[in-house]
Amino acid sequence: MTMVLAEEGQEVQPSTSMADSLPGMTQSQFDRWVELLERRTGMVLPRERRSFLVTSLALRMRQIGYRDVDAYYEFVTSGLAGNIEWTALVDRLTVHETRFFRDPRALRLLRETVLPAVVARPGWDGQLNIWSVGCSTGEEAYTLAMVADRYFNDTGFVARFGVTGTDISLQSLSTAKAGTYSRRRATDIPEEYALRYCEPADPEHFLVSRKLRRRVCFAQINVLDVGGLAGRAADVVYCQNLLIYFDRTRRQAIVDSLVKHLRPGGVMILGAGEVLRWTHPHMTRLANQDDVLAFRRSDEPARRAVAP
Ligand SMILES: C[S@@+](CC[C@H](N)C(=O)[O-])C[C@H]1O[C@@H](n2cnc3c(N)ncnc32)[C@H](O)[C@@H]1O
Repeated sequence: MTMVLAEEGQEVQPSTSMADSLPGMTQSQFDRWVELLERRTGMVLPRERRSFLVTSLALRMRQIGYRDVDAYYEFVTSGLAGNIEWTALVDRLTVHETRFFRDPRALRLLRETVLPAVVARPGWDGQLNIWSVGCSTGEEAYTLAMVADRYFNDTGFVARFGVTGTDISLQSLSTAKAGTYSRRRATDIPEEYALRYCEPADPEHFLVSRKLRRRVCFAQINVLDVGGLAGRAADVVYCQNLLIYFDRTRRQAIVDSLVKHLRPGGVMILGAGEVLRWTHPHMTRLANQDDVLAFRRSDEPARRAVAP
């Protein structure tokens, strides 16, 4: 089956023409799908990506033997089988582009500023929880675990730390859990990390070491639902290249809900420019040389920007 998802932010070239894909799809049928996608995932589909939606629907329908787009809509929106089908469709409709050590500046902030601040916290209990939100196939979560593990090894601090990666896409999460990647992906990992944390699996693949995999777990969570989630608060919330798929209002609401899962003193690291003019009474923008978009949570309402 042709993979329809391509580079982030780029228009996906349909493998068949739209007319061949879903002949006669009307504007109102199209709008119904756009509305469903936005309601359930938060993703906003710009007009110019219409062909992407149409082609993805057509490919999926052909795969499971549907010819009528309305019948497929009814199927997807009702019953247990429809729920299962929705997860397969979402997989097609979301962009999973990711790589190890994707944002070196954010990782430097983590290593040089955030982790030292965690261990210096008065009464630190020796625990560290990092949450990779929208982790796709796991490279980001493993990267964060490599950086943290290396930091604790180098500094001699003894920590019980874990990384949780969450995503809406079950297929991505299953790749993440396996921890096996094409050897081409290893070129993104700095050698000093690759030597410590990667093991050959077969001629084409490598495996994230068992020691590191034990630190990382994955779960399916829709970021729109995190407001109602219970669970242990994180020291670091790392959310990159996810918010770009939402409109401004939704982005702000998501970031607000992520704050609730941060410990006081914890830091939220976002992708460059992913929220503009966002403020929160308990969050202070972290000044840093690379201008990484990061905020620290305090118990007291924040007043001004602080140096890290
Ligand atoms: C482009 S990838 C980013 C991966 C990684 N954070 C990075 O920066 O390399 C975006 C991920 O967000 C996930 N996603 C999209 N909508 C989501 C939602 N509503 N809840 C959770 N994850 C979502 C997609 O499945 C995809 O894996």
